[in-house]
Amino acid sequence: MTTPLPAGVTPRIFSGIQPSGGLTLGNYLGALKRFVEKQDEGIETVYCLVDMHAITVWQDPAKLRHATREAAAGFIAAGIDPARSILFNQSQVTAHVELGWIFNCVARMGWMGRMTQFKDKAGKNSENVSLGLFAYPALMAADILAYRATMVPVGEDQKQHLELCRDIAIKFNNDYKVDFFPVVEPIIEGAATRVMSLRDGTKKMSKSDPSDQSRINLTDDADTIAAKIRKAKTDPEPLPDSLEGLKDRPEARNLVNIYAALAGATPDAVVGEYAGAQFGKFKPALADLAVAKLSPITTEMTRLMADPAEIDRILGAGAERAETLARPVVEQVYDIVGMIRSRR
Ligand code: TYM
Repeated sequence: MTTPLPAGVTPRIFSGIQPSGGLTLGNYLGALKRFVEKQDEGIETVYCLVDMHAITVWQDPAKLRHATREAAAGFIAAGIDPARSILFNQSQVTAHVELGWIFNCVARMGWMGRMTQFKDKAGKNSENVSLGLFAYPALMAADILAYRATMVPVGEDQKQHLELCRDIAIKFNNDYKVDFFPVVEPIIEGAATRVMSLRDGTKKMSKSDPSDQSRINLTDDADTIAAKIRKAKTDPEPLPDSLEGLKDRPEARNLVNIYAALAGATPDAVVGEYAGAQFGKFKPALADLAVAKLSPITTEMTRLMADPAEIDRILGAGAERAETLARPVVEQVYDIVGMIRSRR
C-alpha cells in the first residue's frame, strides 16, 4: 500500500552507489541498468556516487578519486544522460551530511545495531570499526530525504536500509508533528536483484570479495568476461525444464538469472529455452550475451576516462543542480528542528 505524499512532494527517484572499487555486474544488473530504465521512463532522477559512504571503511585517496571518476564514466556509458538525470558525487553537496547529522539524532542505537550489513562488515571486530560505519544508514536516509525522493531503485541487499529510512522519516514527522518527509518506496525489480558470486552461489557478488574470479567487473575485457563465465562454479546436471528444478542449485540459478537480466527476459523463459542443455552449451551462450551487452559499456568507459576533467565538470554541474533541490529542504528541516538561521 502506498502512503499519500506530503504536500509539496512530487514523485522523484534517488539512488546511489559507493565508489569503493570498480562497478560489478551485480551493481549493473541490480541498480545501474534500472537507473537508466527509470530515467527513460521520464521520472525525475537523481543519482549519486556516495564518496562519504565509501570512507566509512579505509579508502586510499588516489584510488577513491579514480574510482569515483570511473563510476561516473560507468553511469554515463551505461546510458545515464547527465542532461536528463542529475549525476554527482555526494561530498560536493553538503546538505547530505547536514541532514545526516540530524538523522543521527533521530535514529536509535538499537535500530542501527540490527542492520545486517553493519554486522556483516563489522564481524567480530565491532569495537574497531569506524563510527561512520555504524551511522552509515542514517546518512543513506539523508541522501534520499534531502531530495524528499519517493522511490529508490536498489538491489535486494539494501532493503533493510530502506526500511530504516522509512522509520527515520516516520519518527521525524512524529517527533516534530509535521507531515514533511515522504515514506519512500523501495524499487527492487527484475531478474537479478541479487547477483551471486561466480565462485559460491550462496554469497553475493561484491566488489570487496578478495577473489576477482568471483565477479565480473564493468572494466573487464571480452576475454576476461568469457573466461570468468566459463570457469564459474556449476553442478554436473543439465538445466531443468522449470525454475522449480533450480531450487537447490544456487550457482545454476544465478547464471539463469544473469542470463535473463542481460537478455531482458524472465528466468522462466530462459529455462524454457535451455531445458535439458548442459552447461557446456549454456555457458558459451551466456558468455556471448554478456560480452555483447557489456563490451560496448566498457569501451565507452575507457573513452570517457581519457578525459577526467570532463567527468569532473559533469559531476560539478550535477552537484549544482542537486544543491538547488536539497538546500531548501535542509533549510526547512533546520527551521522545523528550531535552529536559528540568521547568517544569510
Ligand atoms: P553499493 O555501492 O553496495 O551497491 C550499489 C547498488 O548495487 C546493488 N548491488 C547489487 N544488486 C544485485 N546483486 C548484487 N550482487 C549487488 N551488489 C550491489 C545494491 O543493492 C545497490 O542498489 N548503501 C548503498 C549506497 C547508497 C544508497 C544511498 C543507495 C548510499 N546512499 C541512497 C540508495 C539510496 C550501497 O552500499 O550500495
